[in-house]
Amino acid sequence: MENMWLECIRCHKKFPWNTVIYTCDQCGALLDVKYRFEEPNPESWRGKPFSVWRYENFLPKVREKVSLNEGGTSLYKCDRLAEKFGIKNLWIKNEGENPTGSFKDRGMTVGVSLAKELGSRTVACASTGNTSASLAAYAAKAGLKCVVMIPSGKIALGKLAQAIMYGAIVLAVEGNFDQALNLVEQSSKRLGLYILNSLNPYRLEGQKTIAYEVIEQLGEPPDAIILPVGNAGNISAIHKGITEWKQLGLIEQTPRLIGIQAEGAAPIAHAYKKKKREVTFIENPETLATAIRIGKPVNWEKALRAIYDTNGAAETVTDEQILQAQKLLARTEGIFVEPASAASIAGLTKILDAGLIDKDERIVCITTGHGLKDPDTPIRTCEKPIQVKPDPEIIEKVLQ
Ligand SMILES: Cc1ncc(COP(=O)(O)O)c(C=O)c1O
Ligand SMILES: [Zn+2]
Repeated sequence: MENMWLECIRCHKKFPWNTVIYTCDQCGALLDVKYRFEEPNPESWRGKPFSVWRYENFLPKVREKVSLNEGGTSLYKCDRLAEKFGIKNLWIKNEGENPTGSFKDRGMTVGVSLAKELGSRTVACASTGNTSASLAAYAAKAGLKCVVMIPSGKIALGKLAQAIMYGAIVLAVEGNFDQALNLVEQSSKRLGLYILNSLNPYRLEGQKTIAYEVIEQLGEPPDAIILPVGNAGNISAIHKGITEWKQLGLIEQTPRLIGIQAEGAAPIAHAYKKKKREVTFIENPETLATAIRIGKPVNWEKALRAIYDTNGAAETVTDEQILQAQKLLARTEGIFVEPASAASIAGLTKILDAGLIDKDERIVCITTGHGLKDPDTPIRTCEKPIQVKPDPEIIEKVLQ
């Protein structure tokens, strides 16, 4: 694949595409996948169904695609929710509709395909839950061994159930996500495990297709895309996608990228608010949105680039605001998402109040994971079922 290579985002050192490497050996920064693209012809993909591989012109060429039909998620026009916020043009891109219930599947179809292409036998990740569920499924499909390391007792039950059912070796690490990721990196060096966290640049290639689908489903780029941020891979991936299409002349306008973090785990939002180019990590991140309970986001540098380059923003929300937004979305639009996903909706209110977007702009919120991943939260926070005897008179009384 002479038209593709890896390149350091800071010192621009280049590496052959098939080097198993996650950070630059010269300066320590992350890598991007770079391509010499051929002249793009939209007709070559317009007839294909919406999916990650619809955009294969912009993805690594692999001999075997490890796919579970990921991508092609709905973009819902949400007029009832928009009315609550006093805005007109609001859409939700519901990534919970992916095969394992989160956007991670877009990354894994490309990442696990690359793992096969490179001849890896065992894939590994640290995870706040969704990455482990997704990797376990794609490793099963590919016939690869899978090791996942999760912060013990700190991931939602549905996600744990998935990883176990798909047959991964699940290690519950006595520590938080950041410590688990560190452990995966060290173990990878010792044991030759192929890492599929979002520091792997190939994973982000799959995730950039969220941007392409949104643009094609809307017929043009929106003015702003709002999404939850944890390890900050997704915002970086979406930025890469829109930047490549802009450079290729496929779009003129680029949307502003707005990242939302939970107040107790918000190093990137804090850096943005101080207009800094570096982040101060948080040692003990806390939030009930366990998917984004991350204090040392590996993609911080790519994420700040995404925010500053697009004239975007970053904001924090409290756990209370996340829970309210989760309910509001379910009860106005019929879309049930996990708490981390609801951060994008909670953030929308704050972003509007701060005047960071205008009320007539076209806004897309990305909901990243399905609500059934974390059944404990609604059971704890919503109304309890009303216990009744099987008697129509009682039903009449209760419903009056
Ligand atoms: C549901 C959900 N939303 C958001 C995120 C954050 O994504 P990123 O780590 O790419 O910022 C995650 C990551 O685990 C997630 O599972
Ligand atoms: Zn470098």
